[in-house]
Amino acid sequence: MSTAEQYPTVEQNWPRMYIEFADVYDRFADREWRDSPVYSAIDEIVDELGGQVIAEIGSGTGRSTLELAKYARFVVGIEPEAAMWRIASKNIERAGLTNVALVQGSADHMPLSPRSVDVAVCVMSVAFDTMQHAAERLPEIYRTVKRGGSIVVVGLPPLWYAGELAEVVLGESRTTPEDGEGRQSEVLSKLGFMHHDIDATQTFDSVEDAVAAYGFIFGRNAIQHLIENNMSSIRWRFRISYLDV
Ligand SMILES: C[S@@+](CC[C@H](N)C(=O)[O-])C[C@H]1O[C@@H](n2cnc3c(N)ncnc32)[C@H](O)[C@@H]1O
Repeated sequence: MSTAEQYPTVEQNWPRMYIEFADVYDRFADREWRDSPVYSAIDEIVDELGGQVIAEIGSGTGRSTLELAKYARFVVGIEPEAAMWRIASKNIERAGLTNVALVQGSADHMPLSPRSVDVAVCVMSVAFDTMQHAAERLPEIYRTVKRGGSIVVVGLPPLWYAGELAEVVLGESRTTPEDGEGRQSEVLSKLGFMHHDIDATQTFDSVEDAVAAYGFIFGRNAIQHLIENNMSSIRWRFRISYLDV
């Protein structure tokens, strides 16, 4: 491999990722979530998850949905972007699971009846980074969850955007201009969510694989760093925030 310039990148344009490069996102998420300790931690946080129905909001290409389905009785994946949704359907069919369904929709308009699920889970999806976003989105999520159930939000703690390469991608501050991670942690904690942080490693097949997925998403500085340091795995810290309903 040579210089970073020869590799394509979407430079953290997330909306473009989900519409034009859903296949690359799928590769990234597969490496990120397969057998991740985040899901066993959710299983420990939510009482008796094995008997429960989950709504996963922002299910993307279904990698997080498939992991949740290992622990829950049934998972309904809700996803607004057609390109992501199409890949999720294929991934779920290929996995041969019968305890998963996919529906098109979003956190703002949940295609579910009132109190129809035990747990609502968002994995790196719906932003609760301002009080206004939380005030708009939480009541709709709350509407669909049975009393006695829970809402679980998997995100990143402050300074962990892009995982261990936060400084390479964002500079010394390790913080995006919007500081979505810091603000979301603050908002959820003000609303009474508890949280638990979990470390996990995203393992790619090779440096080329890491460049083509992680590098494609996070940009040229990340690509250069992966190549120069012969890196094929990335350490992440995730923040699991949860609230009893
Ligand atoms: C980073 S991906 C995560 C996908 C999947 N949960 C995973 O972990 O691989 C974020 C996903 O959330 C979806 N999303 C963004 N805003 C949303 C909203 N308000 N309601 C539902 N889904 C949303 C996007 O379309 C995208 O598929």
